[in-house]
Amino acid sequence: MMKMWLVCGLVFLSSLSCVLAWSDWAEWVPDAVTEFIDNPMRRSRIPRFILDAKHPWILENKRKLESLPDAEAFLCGLDAPSDEPVVHVNNGLELPRDLFHYLEIDNRRLSRPGWRNALERLREMKRCPQALARVKTFKVNIYVHDRYSDWFLRVREPSRPYKESLKLCGDVLEAMTGLESLKWEIDAEHAHWFEEAFKHRNLTLPSPKHLLIGPLSHYLVGMCPNVEAIENIDVVCWKHSQHQNPGLLLVRSTSSAKNLTRLALHACFEGWSPELAREVLEYMPQLTSLELKNCFESMYLDPAYSVNPPRPAGKLLRGILAEISNFPNLTHLDLPASYELDLGFDGGPICGNAYDGPGGARYQREVLAESYRATELGGVIVAEVLPHLTGFTVGGHQPNITRDEGGISNVTWFWTGKLDEWLLARIPDYHDEL
Ligand SMILES: *[C@@H]1O[C@H](CO)[C@@H](O)[C@H](O)[C@H]1NC(C)=O
Ligand SMILES: *[C@@H]1O[C@H](CO)[C@@H](O)[C@H](O)[C@H]1NC(C)=O
Ligand SMILES: *[C@@H]1O[C@H](CO)[C@@H](O)[C@H](O)[C@H]1NC(C)=O
Ligand SMILES: *[C@@H]1O[C@H](CO)[C@@H](O)[C@H](O)[C@H]1NC(C)=O
Ligand SMILES: *[C@@H]1O[C@H](CO)[C@@H](O)[C@H](O)[C@H]1NC(C)=O
Repeated sequence: MMKMWLVCGLVFLSSLSCVLAWSDWAEWVPDAVTEFIDNPMRRSRIPRFILDAKHPWILENKRKLESLPDAEAFLCGLDAPSDEPVVHVNNGLELPRDLFHYLEIDNRRLSRPGWRNALERLREMKRCPQALARVKTFKVNIYVHDRYSDWFLRVREPSRPYKESLKLCGDVLEAMTGLESLKWEIDAEHAHWFEEAFKHRNLTLPSPKHLLIGPLSHYLVGMCPNVEAIENIDVVCWKHSQHQNPGLLLVRSTSSAKNLTRLALHACFEGWSPELAREVLEYMPQLTSLELKNCFESMYLDPAYSVNPPRPAGKLLRGILAEISNFPNLTHLDLPASYELDLGFDGGPICGNAYDGPGGARYQREVLAESYRATELGGVIVAEVLPHLTGFTVGGHQPNITRDEGGISNVTWFWTGKLDEWLLARIPDYHDEL
């Protein structure tokens, strides 16, 4: 029976898609049909946005919740007629305090059309004021299926977001009065829809302290006046013209962020340059913490570089750090992995199977040791150029630093003094080599 339905559904779908342009089709299809396609089994009584958040308590109590007369009303705090004992009404369930601390709208790991998923999740959230009032971290990641996706997802993407969803999105964000962290992972080509809608309603979000934002969504910075830390998402930037460098636009959008103390910036395809560091200093002299999420301009743009590094190891790093030393209050710096720092280590073989066969493990240990040596060199240079720092990382490794009046006097890494043991523990010899 189910199979028949599916077959009929598919025939119906494909004939329709011939008649109508893809994009308009999606808006035309009634909810019931798309809901059936998304979930041909019985619809859960628990709102899907709550299931999506994967709180362990929900996963554990799913069956009990499903058996409540109205799980949505219970979870969203609209329930509990006062004359009945609450425990009886709710099958003995009690909501954990952190139940709604994390919420998301994210169709990337699910086979759902992006705009439709956003609309449906937003509708559910709007009906759940309890969740909106309690959420601390909210992630929005809308993947709009395109020609690289399966046709049954692609044909259900309208050419633009549903109007209702843009309004709902503003409503929902405004109702999140305790929101601390907003993760806005919208692709560059769709950023403007939200920008227009949010600007139109003069959206202001006083609560978020942390912003993670996608390319061309820098307008959000002005809408979050109390933001303290901003990070942008690593993006493939060659799509954008020079005038639209999303990293630069982000930097220039921060003037109003008076409480901003940390920036983690991926500088796109152009990479980090002394000019960019100066630009960051001009707009955010108050920073106490800075992260360079990727490597330097010349490593991307100088074609001679990748074949034959023309500079002495550390020259590019010193150049950038010299600019960074002008931040008056900077105490912490995060640098990318050592192979991104132009320190004479190129990252080793790209293919994992370079380490196959006899001697493979030994070779892999050599490459790892080389990366640690480059990391140490990076640490030496940081300590020399920025002796006032109280902490830094290279490629996620945080060394212990010793300070005296003159600044950083010693830097030790977790492998310092026990490199060989450490390498052998991480990459033991393969059996066939013994
Ligand atoms: C937004 O702000 C502008 C300028 O302050 C004002 O003219 C406009 O009416 C406001 N719009 C809304 C929807 O409040
Ligand atoms: C910044 O932080 C201070 C103190 O925490 C606070 O009073 C102020 O309202 C915040 N926002 C702005 C925009 O300065
Ligand atoms: C650096 O910190 C000092 C002391 O907290 C403060 O007075 C000064 O305004 C800060 N500088 C910048 C550029 O924010
Ligand atoms: C740095 O610290 C390590 C580990 O504590 C120690 O062995 C080494 O002698 C120190 N080096 C200097 C220059 O103080
Ligand atoms: C830093 O020092 C502490 C205390 O001695 C030690 O437990 C830790 O492993 C050290 N970390 C590194 C990265 O060396």
